[in-house]
Amino acid sequence: MPESPTSPGAPFSWRELSTRHDGVTLRLLDVAAEAPGASEVLAALSVEEQARAARFRSEADRLRFALTRAALRSLLGAATGRAPEALVLTMGPHGKPCLANADGPFFNVSHSGSLGLIGISRQRPIGVDIEWTRDISDMHGIAEAYFSAREHRALVALAPGEQKRAFFAIWTGKEALLKALGTGIGEGLQEFSVAPKAEAYSVLPETQSFARRLAGASLERLEVPENYAAAFALV
Ligand SMILES: CC(C)(COP(=O)(O)OP(=O)(O)OC[C@H]1O[C@@H](n2cnc3c(N)ncnc32)[C@H](O)[C@@H]1OP(=O)(O)O)[C@@H](O)C(=O)NCCC(=O)NCCS
Repeated sequence: MPESPTSPGAPFSWRELSTRHDGVTLRLLDVAAEAPGASEVLAALSVEEQARAARFRSEADRLRFALTRAALRSLLGAATGRAPEALVLTMGPHGKPCLANADGPFFNVSHSGSLGLIGISRQRPIGVDIEWTRDISDMHGIAEAYFSAREHRALVALAPGEQKRAFFAIWTGKEALLKALGTGIGEGLQEFSVAPKAEAYSVLPETQSFARRLAGASLERLEVPENYAAAFALV
C-alpha cells in the first residue's frame, strides 16, 4: 500500500479512498505495513485508551487498535485544528465513539484482518465497516438468522461461487448503516434490506420505523484490497 502521510506528525501507511460525497474523508490503514515503535503510537493515546490497549491478549489486536486509534486522533486533529492528544473522545448510548465538546466532525472506525478503516464526515453521521472475507462454515445459517428474508432469498438465488462475495457485501452494507445510526448491530438488522450494486447499494426499509430512520440515507461500497469487503453509510 503506498505511503501517503498527511503531516509530519502522522507517519501512517494509509490510503485515501475515493467518494463522490463532499466533506467525507475515508482512509484505509494497513496495520501490517506499520513499523513505528509501540511507545510512539501509545504516546498519542489517552490514559483510558492505553489501558484498553494493554487489555488485548493478542499483540496483533493491541497494535491494530492502538494504530487505528492514533490514526483517528491524527485525522480528527487535522479536521478540528486541535492537537490529536488533546481531543476527548466519548461514547453514544450504544457505544459509538464521538468527540466530546464539539459540533463535529462525525466519524466512525472499523478494523478487520490487518486493515483499519476510518471515515470522517463534516455534515452527516457516518458508519463504516470492513471485513476480511474469510471462509465462514455456517454462512447460510448466519444469513438466515441475521439478514432480512429478502436478503436471504437474494443470496441463495446466486450461483454458489458468487455467494461469499455477496454475503460480505450485504454484511458490510448492513453494519455500516447501523453504525451510522449509532446503534451497532444489536438491533434493526432485519428491519431493512440492502442490495449491493456495482458501486452503491439500494436500501429498502422493511418497517415504518426504519423508513423514517433511513430517509435520505446513502450507502456505498468501497474499493479495498482483494479478500476484503467494505462499505460506508451516511444518515
Ligand atoms: C460495535 C459493533 C458494530 C462492532 O462490530 P465489529 O464488526 O466487531 O467491529 P468493527 O471493527 O467493525 O467496529 C468497531 C468500532 O466500531 C465503533 N463502535 C462501537 N460501538 C459502535 C456503535 N454502537 N455504533 C457505531 N460504531 C460503534 C468503535 O469505534 C469500534 O472501534 P474501537 O473500539 O477501536 O474504537 C458491534 O460490536 C455492535 O453492534 N455491538 C452492539 C452495540 C451495543 O449494544 N453495545 C453495547 C455497549 S454500550
